[in-house]
Amino acid sequence: MSLRSPHLILAGFGALDRLGQEAMNIGARKALIVTDKGVINSGIEKKVKDHLDKNGVSVGIFDDVMSDPDIANAEACIEVGKKDRYDLIIGVGGGSSMDIASIASVMMTNAGTVHDYFGINLVKNPGIPTILIPTTAGTGAEVTPNAILTDTKEKLKKAVVSPHILPRVAIIDPLLHLSMPPSVTSSSGIDALTHAIESYTSNNATILTDLFAKESMILIGRSLRTAVVNGNDMEARYNMAIGSLYSGISLANAGVTAVHALAYPLGGQFNIAHGIANGLLLPYVMEFNVLGNIPKFAQVAQFLGEKVEHLSLLDQAYQAAKTVKAIYRDLKIPQSLTELKVPKEAIPVMAKAAVNVTRLMGNNPRTMTVQDVERIYEKAL
Ligand SMILES: [Fe+2]
Repeated sequence: MSLRSPHLILAGFGALDRLGQEAMNIGARKALIVTDKGVINSGIEKKVKDHLDKNGVSVGIFDDVMSDPDIANAEACIEVGKKDRYDLIIGVGGGSSMDIASIASVMMTNAGTVHDYFGINLVKNPGIPTILIPTTAGTGAEVTPNAILTDTKEKLKKAVVSPHILPRVAIIDPLLHLSMPPSVTSSSGIDALTHAIESYTSNNATILTDLFAKESMILIGRSLRTAVVNGNDMEARYNMAIGSLYSGISLANAGVTAVHALAYPLGGQFNIAHGIANGLLLPYVMEFNVLGNIPKFAQVAQFLGEKVEHLSLLDQAYQAAKTVKAIYRDLKIPQSLTELKVPKEAIPVMAKAAVNVTRLMGNNPRTMTVQDVERIYEKAL
């Protein structure tokens, strides 16, 4: 059993105030902030820059990160990083900005192109140091060894998986989440909930990862709806920030399962946002997976706040899927594949692509055939 995480995690209200000191501890002189235009407009990038300025670290900006970034987007950032010889990369934003920052970091110290590193443990050299600062809660990208890009030619999501993708420092400050609009709060929050449930029921879960996954479900179950409808609720934002961090640590070490495998074709072929795709598929995959681990799914219902003692263990487990569906309904985001303009005819191709994501399907608590996957997509239509 093992548990891998960043060298340092700073979390809590005002954690960002430690950024300048940590950049100095790393010995940085020239930092590249990797972010997107939304983070620039929110004023968060300026706060990050001010902390670095105060500590004498010069700053460059790459603010062209796109949502669900493709390989070309990563290459553009790598070029900037190499050309101006930065010695620290700071990813600020959602999973996209943090993943691009991590990939740029390792591509500055490893030969070849990013195509050479899709897969598990192919990155030889550690990258230049990174600090990752999530502005959503969350993808968990600040604590996971995976960085995901879209291969637009093959219409597939591909992952660089390596301990070198983990940052030197992760800074989780709920104050940075207050400006997140409801749509982003719900799609990133349901992604975090998916990470917690999937890693808890993954074949690779351990008592170490269970600890984080359980607490994550309790925090997110208690606060996701509130954070969406009242973005200024400090307690809800705090619970979501920490819940997302916990689910990220659990995901990083136990892996995710079929929901993410089924969500990837929706992102790759129909550009559906990662969190939306996950949230929509989550209850249907859970319903299927229940028989693969009845006791754990029964616990999921309890962690999410359901009173289930009067039910049989099997009914408790099925209740977990119903509870997740109810949460998703309350979030007022697209409720079906049809609403997202995914036609029924696309299902066979998507199902084949999903079962080929063996990295994740191997973690699934119940074996899934192509026919099983097709049936799950059909339920979500
Ligand atoms: Fe995810």
